Amino acid sequence: MINIATIPGDGIGKEVLKAGLYILDYFDLNFEYTPAPAGRECFNKTGETIPDETIKIAKNADATLFGAITSTPGEKSPIVTLRKELDTYGNIRPIKSFKGVDCIYDDLDFVIVRENTEGLYSQSEEIIEEDKYVIANKIITKKASERICKLAFNLAVKEGRKSVVASHKANVLRKTDGLFRDTFYEVAEDYPNIETNDYYVDATSMFLVTQPQNFDVIVAGNLYGDILSDVSAGLVGGLGLAPSGNIGDKHGLFEPVHGSAPDIAGKDISNPIAMLLSTSMMLDYLSFNYEADLLKRACEEVLRKGNVLTPDLGGTAKTYEMADAVVCNIRELEKSD
Ligand code: NAI
Ligand code: MG
Repeated sequence: MINIATIPGDGIGKEVLKAGLYILDYFDLNFEYTPAPAGRECFNKTGETIPDETIKIAKNADATLFGAITSTPGEKSPIVTLRKELDTYGNIRPIKSFKGVDCIYDDLDFVIVRENTEGLYSQSEEIIEEDKYVIANKIITKKASERICKLAFNLAVKEGRKSVVASHKANVLRKTDGLFRDTFYEVAEDYPNIETNDYYVDATSMFLVTQPQNFDVIVAGNLYGDILSDVSAGLVGGLGLAPSGNIGDKHGLFEPVHGSAPDIAGKDISNPIAMLLSTSMMLDYLSFNYEADLLKRACEEVLRKGNVLTPDLGGTAKTYEMADAVVCNIRELEKSD
C-alpha cells in the first residue's frame, strides 16, 4: 500500500486536487490517502496555517499532493514550511508548449530546477531600524548548491537532455552566487557528456524571451528560479498549465505552480491540467512510469483536441468535465497502446 498525503488548501486548490484524485482513482493503484489541512481556512479554524500534524502526515507519506493555499499575512507560509520540513531541496518546473494552446512559443521543452531551501528565501530578515533599515540574509551553502546541481545534471541524463545552464548573478554577488557558480562547474566535471554554460540571471531572462528554444535544463537559486519559472510559464500558456515537483532524498511533494485563485474560486472553472501534470510527476516519482506517461499524454490530447477546455483556455468546460475528458483520453490511449 502506498500512502499519499493530500493537502487541498484553499480556493481552487480544493477543486484541482479533487480532479487529481479522480484520475488516480481511475488508475486504481492501491494508494491510500491521508487528507491534511493547511492554509487560510485552516488558520481561521485552528490558528495555524500548517499544523504539526499535517507536517507529520506528509513526513510519513510516500508522497504528498498539494493543491494551493491562500496566504495569511504575518503567518508561516505552509508550502515554504513543508518544502523545508521535508527537505525537498529541488523544485522541478517543466516548461512545455502544448499543441492547440495559444501561447507565445509553441516549440518549447525545457526544465527549470530551482533550489528550494536557502538563498534569499531563508526567511532570515532583520530590522535594524524600524521602518527605515531592514536586511534580508542571503544564505548559500556549498552542500545545498552541490545537491541541487547534481539533481539538475541527473535529470538531464534521465531525460536525455543535452545541456544544463546555471543562472546566477556572480558578477555582483561574488561570494554567494560565486560559490553557487563554482560549485556548478565542479559538479559538471562528473557529467562530461552534458554541455554546460552559465548566464547572469538578467541575461537569462532576456534569452528566455528572445531564444528560449536553446534551453534544456536551467538550474538556479531560490529567488531567481521562482521568477524565471513564472516568466517561462507565461511563454507557454500560463499558470493553469504549469506543474511542479519538489524533490528531496527522502520525500516528494507535488503541486501546481499556481495559487488559490480567489477570483475564480468556488465556480469549478479552474483548469486542472497543472495539477494533473503534477500528479503525473508524482506517479513518475513513485515509479508508476507507465501511468505517469499515459496521464501526461492524455492531458496533451485534451489540449490538442480543444473541445473540452476551461475558460482560461477559451472554453466553457468545468474543472470536472476537463478531468473527465482526460480520463476518456487515457482509456483511448490504453486501447491503442
Ligand atoms: P494565482 O496563481 O492564484 O492566480 C493568478 C491568476 O491566474 C488569477 O487570475 C487566477 O484566476 C489565474 N489562475 C491560476 N491558476 C489557475 C487555474 N488552474 N485555472 C485557471 N486560472 C488560473 O495567484 P495570486 O492571485 O497571485 O494569488 C492568490 C493567492 O494564492 C494568494 O493568497 C497567494 O499568496 C496564494 N499563492 C499560493 C501558492 C501556493 O499555494 N503554492 C502559489 C502562489 C500564490
Ligand atoms: Mg512563484
